[in-house]
Amino acid sequence: MILDDALRLAGRTVARAVTRPPRYDLEGRVVFITGAARGLGAATARRAHVRGARVALVGRRLAPLQELAAELGSGAAAFEADVTSAEQLQQAATDAVATFGGIDVVIANAGIAPPSHTVATIDTDAFERTVDVDLLGQWRTVRATLPAVLESRGHILLVGSIYAFFNGVLAAPYAVSKAGVEQLARTLRVELASHGATAGIAYLGFIDTDLAADAFADASAQAIRQAVPRVFTREMTVTAAADAMLDAIERRAPQVSAPAWVRPLLAFRSVTTAVMDDVLLHNRNVQTAISDAEVAARQPES
Ligand SMILES: NC(=O)c1ccc[n+]([C@@H]2O[C@H](COP(=O)([O-])OP(=O)(O)OC[C@H]3O[C@@H](n4cnc5c(N)ncnc54)[C@H](OP(=O)(O)O)[C@@H]3O)[C@@H](O)[C@H]2O)c1
Repeated sequence: MILDDALRLAGRTVARAVTRPPRYDLEGRVVFITGAARGLGAATARRAHVRGARVALVGRRLAPLQELAAELGSGAAAFEADVTSAEQLQQAATDAVATFGGIDVVIANAGIAPPSHTVATIDTDAFERTVDVDLLGQWRTVRATLPAVLESRGHILLVGSIYAFFNGVLAAPYAVSKAGVEQLARTLRVELASHGATAGIAYLGFIDTDLAADAFADASAQAIRQAVPRVFTREMTVTAAADAMLDAIERRAPQVSAPAWVRPLLAFRSVTTAVMDDVLLHNRNVQTAISDAEVAARQPES
């Protein structure tokens, strides 16, 4: 009986998953992107603009956003907002609506890499700052733009990461944030449905941006990187990641994963995560990297 019910529910889910909703073309839509000054945010803004979208470029430094807006020309405007400030985001959302007449799509993208320390040794402010930007920044972005998205029956894409389910060793605040972002996206998907709006999440592997370079700048983080098969840490281009996200928005997809290897790892995550935790637990280089990070944290700063 229980099995019958489970199979019936699973069958309905599969049927819905293979039924494509009408395409949500980006042409003419207004796309609000945080962290648009560089990296994935800037690339996504450029690619969305090529698809005919008007782009609200949001970030904490106005000058590079204005440069990008000037480069893109008509249909692009810059708005200053630090995602740690609900007030600034609210102002940016209000100004974007005033400029473009509304907001159709939100891409909560702004993010930072944490310092490579353990939970025991990381500076408490650094831990909390990462969560403040990477998790609460996305929540604040959603909250500030939701009225406009509901009005337009639009779509919200939260920029997650494989760290939503990868082990967060030496990157705990980042992994904690991305796991939280996953929950936020799934919750929104259900809560927005009755309003005709949608939400999704991007599970991205490593991308060739400053953030990935920063994350692996120190030797301890490099050891973690070397403990997992090379295919999982090879960087994809920022343009490929941007296009994957925009394609997903145009399908109103609940999730998108890129590059291709992320998908099976995500689908079989209970196995993936158990194997990954076990590998990290028993890898001598990883354990050495953790000890090194602990020792480094005890050294007085020169
Ligand atoms: N790179 C990867 O391997 C990778 C993998 C998976 C997921 N992601 C996710 O992709 C997103 C973008 O990362 P990225 O690789 O493009 O990083 P990036 O090149 O370092 O760019 C990050 C952007 O976020 C902005 N930002 C940082 N803190 C902010 C704040 N408090 N308020 C407003 N804007 C802020 C930065 O502004 P400034 O220019 O002013 O610093 C910058 O424009 C992040 O959510 C990240 O977690 C990245």
